Amino acid sequence: MGEISLDMHKGDWTVPQEWHLYRADEHAMWDRLFERQARLLPGRVAPAFLEGLDILRLSKPGIPDFAELNARLMDATGWQVVAVPGLVPDAVFFDHLANRRFVAGRFIRRPDQIDYLEEPDIFHDVFGHVPLLANPVFADYMAAYGRGGQRAVKLGAIERLARLYWYTVEFGLLRSGDSLQIYGAGIVSSFSESVFALDDPSPNRIGFDLKRLMQTRYRIDDFQQTYFVIDSFEDLLAQTIGTDFAPLYQELAGSTDLDVATILPGDTVFHLGTQAYARSRPTHSSGSSE
Ligand SMILES: [Fe+2]
Repeated sequence: MGEISLDMHKGDWTVPQEWHLYRADEHAMWDRLFERQARLLPGRVAPAFLEGLDILRLSKPGIPDFAELNARLMDATGWQVVAVPGLVPDAVFFDHLANRRFVAGRFIRRPDQIDYLEEPDIFHDVFGHVPLLANPVFADYMAAYGRGGQRAVKLGAIERLARLYWYTVEFGLLRSGDSLQIYGAGIVSSFSESVFALDDPSPNRIGFDLKRLMQTRYRIDDFQQTYFVIDSFEDLLAQTIGTDFAPLYQELAGSTDLDVATILPGDTVFHLGTQAYARSRPTHSSGSSE
């Protein structure tokens, strides 16, 4: 697609998707990524994700046309997907979420970026995030997060709250009986992390604990060293809307951040990670990132 300069966006940073401008090779890239994940995910991903793909008819070949997608998404949960030219300011992002609009990139990765890219593309944003927005409970959670973000901006606590997004919306795991499932968009849109997050002995997998999670740093440059496991979307939503974050932010302001691989005595440990993968990486650090 042609580049559109940043000054052309509207006040809310949205731009038209201009679906007609996608080239055949870009649609083919979507299909290639879609097919690979669609084969891998059954049995690994939360069933609500597969239901979302179905409700939104995302298996239709080619890059989704937001106009078509939005008609189905609006019917399901009142959410919309809006295109943005790239990363948007935090306050803009939170405002969109609070009003049930999910911001998505329009571009799709090039063939040489198939397994890694720095900025989220339309495959990450739409395939990764949008299916769960067709789930009424998760849809409410995302809107509640947006409202929480608006408050966090005023309280100067967005770094703290961003960890909740990171460890749930992007890299969350869900308990299902004795096993675990993936639901975070950063995992489900990644071929390698869809396997790593569940099967690799390296990372910790520990129970969701809001306060503990908001003390924990995260990695932006590689697979996570700790994944947090929720009991259900209902529980995640209830804890998020039932928590008064202001005193929590105050309390945490005086505490030390936890390293990405730390295990605490009070943690519910589903799997104690070996951290062998992280140690094998040249970029390994004892816990920076953010
Ligand atoms: Fe994302």
